[in-house]
Order: sequence, then C-alpha cells, then structure tokens
Amino acid sequence: MLHSDKIDNHIIAKALARFNKSQKEPLKKQSEDFQVFQEVFDKATLMALYHILNSQIISYLNGVVRSGKESSVFWGVTPEGNNVAVKIFLTVASNFKKKLIYIEGDHRFRHIQKNNYKLIALWTKKEFKNLHLAYSSEIPVPKPLYVRRNVLIMEFIGGEGIPAPTLAEIEIEDQDLDQVLLLIKKLYQKAHLVHSDFSEFNLFKHSSKIIAFDFASAVHISHPMANDFLLRDLNNINRFFIKRGYSSFNVTEMFKEIVEE
Ligand SMILES: Nc1ncnc2c1ncn2[C@@H]1O[C@H](COP(=O)(O)OP(=O)(O)O)[C@@H](O)[C@H]1O
Ligand SMILES: [Mg+2]
Repeated sequence: MLHSDKIDNHIIAKALARFNKSQKEPLKKQSEDFQVFQEVFDKATLMALYHILNSQIISYLNGVVRSGKESSVFWGVTPEGNNVAVKIFLTVASNFKKKLIYIEGDHRFRHIQKNNYKLIALWTKKEFKNLHLAYSSEIPVPKPLYVRRNVLIMEFIGGEGIPAPTLAEIEIEDQDLDQVLLLIKKLYQKAHLVHSDFSEFNLFKHSSKIIAFDFASAVHISHPMANDFLLRDLNNINRFFIKRGYSSFNVTEMFKEIVEE
C-alpha cells in the first residue's frame, strides 16, 4: 500500500476539469496515489470512475493495492463500508492486440470491434463475465460486483486494503494442490472455462482456502485452443509444486480426467 488520501468524486472532478482545460501544471498537494492515478488514467477512465462514485457504487478509493503494466488495482470502500477491489485496465501505453487469441476463438465474443479502446473495455467485461460464471458455479473466486468500461469492481480478498498472499508469497501444504486441482476441474466441468493464466501468482491463499483470480484470459471450453491452455495451466501448477519440493502429479492423466469425465 502506498500512502494515501481518499480519492473521491471531488478529486476526480478536479482531474477532469484539468483535462477539459488542458492545463499543464500539476495540482497542488498530490499524494503518491494521486500521482499514480494521474499518470495512468485517461479522460474516459476518469469519467467512468466519476460515474461509479456519483452512483454511490463505491464511496471512495482508499489507495493503490498494486499498480502493474496492464492494470492497477485499488482498494475501494462502498457506502455500506465494505472493502472492494477496483481493477482498472490501463488504456494508456498498452497493447491489447496480442490478447486477441483469447477472444477471437471464443464464440461468446464473435462480433467484436478491434480498436484498442474497445478491446480493453471488452477485455474488462470478459473478466467480469468469467468471474460471474465461475462464482455462480460455486468456484472460489472474488465475487464480481460491477463493470463499466475498463473498470471492474469485485469482492476484496484479504484484510483492510491488504490483499491475501498469493501462493507465490506463502508456505504451501499438500492439501493446497488438492484444492488447486479441484478448482481447475470444477472450472472446466461446471463453469465450462479454462483459466489460461493459471499460476501461483493468480491464486490467493486466504485462511487456508485457495481462491483463483485474474480471469480476463479465461476462455470457454469450446475455444479451439482451450485444451492447450488447460495443459499449460496444469503444467504451470505442476512445475510450481515441484519447485517447492512436492512430488509431481501426472499432468496427462489429470488432463484426461478433467476433459473426459
Ligand atoms: N479481488 C481482489 N482482492 C484483493 N486484491 C486483489 C484482488 N484482485 C487483485 N488484487 C491484487 O492485485 C494484484 C493484481 O491483480 P491481477 O488480477 O492478477 O492483475 P494483473 O492482470 O495485472 O496480473 C493481485 O496480485 C492482488 O495483489
Ligand atoms: Mg495476475
């Protein structure tokens, strides 16, 4: 967590006003969070946030949880006082064209436009839909709450603004592998999805429970490469558990068990 001031609709309104006047000089008294937020957010993103704050979907952003190359995740607070994760896909300096393979083969997204901004909005909606499918199939994922343009709001997994550790960051036990494999299997068989970016970095361990996240790349099992992605996911997990000193599982058998059952 960076040091933070609350980012509410007044701050967003000011930032928008700057865009409108196209003033160059920076606002006074900026927090570190606010700098992050100004560097990465374009006008359309600010407008989406403004709408979200004005509609009281959340009351304010309470700081940056993680700021990556393609997305920034913020800690948001709802009017009821619940913590939520606000994942904002960055429209600035990102190349979403390489993500087309996760979209084009998926029959749910046949009729799409291929300009970058629309693609990012589609990518965001895709993560939301995938989370919704998984969540309603009772697979442990953050509950998706809201999506608008490149902004996705979901249940916050962890404590006050501090995300639960990922498998990459914490000790693991035998039963973690069982949970992980069951999760992949249920995802395929009940939600008809393959995660496609499954690794220790996209799995939380929260009070001994494994929770999968980062679902933008997930594809429907009818995608022509779904089986390749599933094999890759299984191999990633196998490699990780071996690296941590656990015995390997048979990837081919697990794959068959998942797709043939
Ligand atoms: N629902 C959530 N609750 C708490 N923290 C989250 C949540 N979703 C993402 N994060 C935090 O943001 C980081 C990046 O999220 P992720 O969805 O993996 O984005 P990316 O596509 O950039 O990898 C996670 O490692 C975690 O620290
Ligand atoms: Mg990730």
